Amino acid sequence: MERWRGKHALVTGASAGIGFAIAEGLARAGVNVIGCARNPSTLEELGEKLPPGSGKIFSVKTDLEKEEEISALFHEIQTKWGHVDILVNNAGGGKMGSLESQSTEDWQQIFQLNVLATSICTRETLKLLEKDGIEDGHIININSVAGHSNTALTIDGIGFYSGAKHMITAISKNLYTELAKKKSKIRVTSISPGIVSSRVVKQYKEALGENVKGTALDAVLLECKDISDAVLYVVGSPPHVVITELTIVPSGQIY
Ligand SMILES: NC(=O)c1ccc[n+]([C@@H]2O[C@H](COP(=O)([O-])OP(=O)(O)OC[C@H]3O[C@@H](n4cnc5c(N)ncnc54)[C@H](OP(=O)(O)O)[C@@H]3O)[C@@H](O)[C@H]2O)c1
Repeated sequence: MERWRGKHALVTGASAGIGFAIAEGLARAGVNVIGCARNPSTLEELGEKLPPGSGKIFSVKTDLEKEEEISALFHEIQTKWGHVDILVNNAGGGKMGSLESQSTEDWQQIFQLNVLATSICTRETLKLLEKDGIEDGHIININSVAGHSNTALTIDGIGFYSGAKHMITAISKNLYTELAKKKSKIRVTSISPGIVSSRVVKQYKEALGENVKGTALDAVLLECKDISDAVLYVVGSPPHVVITELTIVPSGQIY
């Protein structure tokens, strides 16, 4: 990771869950982290508790479902830091519901956050890297095992989300190919976790109460740090190594 020390990473959805752990992991490795979320106050607290030698944490309040707010985020990045060397497209998720009955509004929200925000942040990051003549960047998309199999996890109500994450699988692979054809050294990685004990999963488990018994959530789950460690592994691998896809599940989870 030494070659990334002092460089900048943008982590989307960095105020909680997996994104927060990734922001902390990168900062502890000496990378300056720009974390965005709608309520980024937890990031300010994180910045204060990091040990000496860590990278700095900058938080930018952004609603990634609004393109004008993404534009403002990248305007701030360009003005203050020129570009980011690493982009972690982490923000994602969305309401659960059946494909027979879920609202169009819910689908628009899931598509906007999981697919469009990821694609816009990627495009804008690549533009800034090109502008500054930076050849050594890394785009990481936090995908899901639900982005590879529509029967993943045997959880009901994730049909549209699973479809959106399938797009992330396709987009990640196509971006890798586009860049490789240009002989770009910018790497692209899709990380596909099984169930992670993040903020949203803890809330969902609580809401299920006793009904959690016998579901996929009633088992050993991944910790957010497991995904952060995976990010450090793929980013820290030698420049000629591209980990295009990394699937991580808690032991015993069927996917
Ligand atoms: N947890 C799992 O089991 C699991 C498994 C596979 C893949 N994943 C993927 O991992 C990623 C992170 O999920 P998670 O479980 O850590 O979720 P989480 O606990 O709900 O955290 C989501 C993060 O995204 C931010 N966010 C949500 N909507 C946003 C918006 N419109 N604009 C800006 N930021 C927004 C939230 O902050 P604010 O609320 O402050 O905006 C929060 O920081 C997602 O892409 C998810 O699909 C999760």
